[in-house]
Amino acid sequence: MNSGRVLVLCALPYTNQVPHIGNIVGSHLPADIFARYCRLRGVETLFVGATDENGTPTEVAALELGVSPKELTDALYRVHRDIYSWFEISYDIFSRTSSPTHHRTTQEFFAKIYDEGYVTEGVLRLPYCENDMLFLPDRYVEGICPICGYELARGDQCEKCSTLLDPIQLIKPRCKIDGSAPVFKDSKQLFLELGKVQDRLESWISSRVAWRDHVTSLALGWLREGLKKRSITRDLRWGVPVPLDGYRDKVFYVWFDAPIGYISATKEWGEANGNRDAWKGFWTDPETRIYNFLGKDNIPFHTIFWPGMLFAHGGLNLPYDVVGLQFCNYEGDKISKSKNWGIFCENIPQVGLDPDVWRYYLVSIIPETRDTEFKWDDFKNKVNNELVANIGNFVHRTTTFAWNNFGGRVAVERASGEEVELVHRVTRLGEESLGLLGEVRFRDAMTKILAIADLGNEYFQGRQPWKLVKDDIEECQQVIHACLMVCDAVAILLQPFLPASSAKILDLLGTPDRGLSGVGKHRERVMLSGKPVIPFRKLEDSELERAKKLATKSRPVSDYFKG
Ligand code: MF3
Ligand code: ZN
Repeated sequence: MNSGRVLVLCALPYTNQVPHIGNIVGSHLPADIFARYCRLRGVETLFVGATDENGTPTEVAALELGVSPKELTDALYRVHRDIYSWFEISYDIFSRTSSPTHHRTTQEFFAKIYDEGYVTEGVLRLPYCENDMLFLPDRYVEGICPICGYELARGDQCEKCSTLLDPIQLIKPRCKIDGSAPVFKDSKQLFLELGKVQDRLESWISSRVAWRDHVTSLALGWLREGLKKRSITRDLRWGVPVPLDGYRDKVFYVWFDAPIGYISATKEWGEANGNRDAWKGFWTDPETRIYNFLGKDNIPFHTIFWPGMLFAHGGLNLPYDVVGLQFCNYEGDKISKSKNWGIFCENIPQVGLDPDVWRYYLVSIIPETRDTEFKWDDFKNKVNNELVANIGNFVHRTTTFAWNNFGGRVAVERASGEEVELVHRVTRLGEESLGLLGEVRFRDAMTKILAIADLGNEYFQGRQPWKLVKDDIEECQQVIHACLMVCDAVAILLQPFLPASSAKILDLLGTPDRGLSGVGKHRERVMLSGKPVIPFRKLEDSELERAKKLATKSRPVSDYFKG
């Protein structure tokens, strides 16, 4: 990683739903771990998020609920914000695409690409539901995918084969609200001429080395088919108004304004910190690396559509890495709100387990390369056997030993023999772990931390300090000192993953240098700040039963509008 800036972006969640565990594990959590890692590395880092509130999904969800889009988004914005903050997702700003800055930024972005000749006028045949008397958003038309035959393809995209669609391409289309067949009506719209940026997109994508293979190959696949112009306006009221005569009663297509939200939110962060121009460092300095975290259904928008918009606009940074994650299922099946199958985040705080306990398990099921699965017995095993029995046990036995036998003060001027060797191996594993994090490989990075704790436990066990303390107190001090150095390393490395518990351990250890360069750094004198308390507690079956009962119950969105 270079010394330049990093901008970490997480796909902006729609405000028509409450997040489920798949949303946390599939974008917010990995983005957070990466952002924390960059900050610890000492790189200037900004982590930006927002809710995606405009256009189609919101307007239709509000219609179904019988509330106004504003009421819906106000309520759900708070729900989203609170859930992410409970999970300690360290957004530097979590904004909304209904903000005035976002409206202005979108309109300016549009004006620029319009002036540059990338926008043309045309007619779109749009699905119109005669019962609901409205033009249907793409996502609210379902039908058979013309490419792969999937029966439940959505008008914007087929979930099965990922192809970007237009509703009119669907075979046997039906309105998702009432099931009737929509009629297609002509409507004047604006289009982004993606064909004009095809060449630039192609050479840019071919030059990406860091991207995951499935991301690059998906993107190149669409390019091979040839890019067609894509409409960027819609006949709706809720959204960013189009600032062009003849179109003023329309709003932008939600996928046009949403990614611009990344920029708007960066601007708002600068404004909130008294520096209106701060956003430019992140968006116009070519030294800045932008990392986008998103689910696989969002890959086409982040590898083609949004970069296409950026090419048309010019002068703004493209994504450096598009981290397209796979899906996380629940106990053998896809997570589904309507089937009440999954873990729904709104009740998780009531469960009574620490966020770090969840985070620990969730890290192990980040769907980095293939779909993963949340399973309760796996949750229990990983927490009890790894977090508690390996990491927690090592830290606790070391610190309690130091407390009970040395009054919490352990000093060793210069390490010798086995101690040096141990710290050496730990440092090497630490570097490997950090290298993996830099490559956005979370699970492997965590495995290295576990390996460090393993080494520590083996060493403790092998050196038998409980015997040495009687026979050779100097030697015993050496051993415990070495173990404390290993605790330092473990806690420093855990920071991006388990922010609260690692901070507690570091406080206990009195570790002065918590940056990643502190891993393996010799400290002559360790002084514990107090009597050690157990860092991680074993999960009892009764707790898990309670967690399962609470967390798997999805609350209908309408609940938020009662009373
Ligand atoms: N709201 C979209 C979804 O949940 C993601 C938008 S990402 C952005 O699928 F790039 F548009 F912001
Ligand atoms: Zn398909």
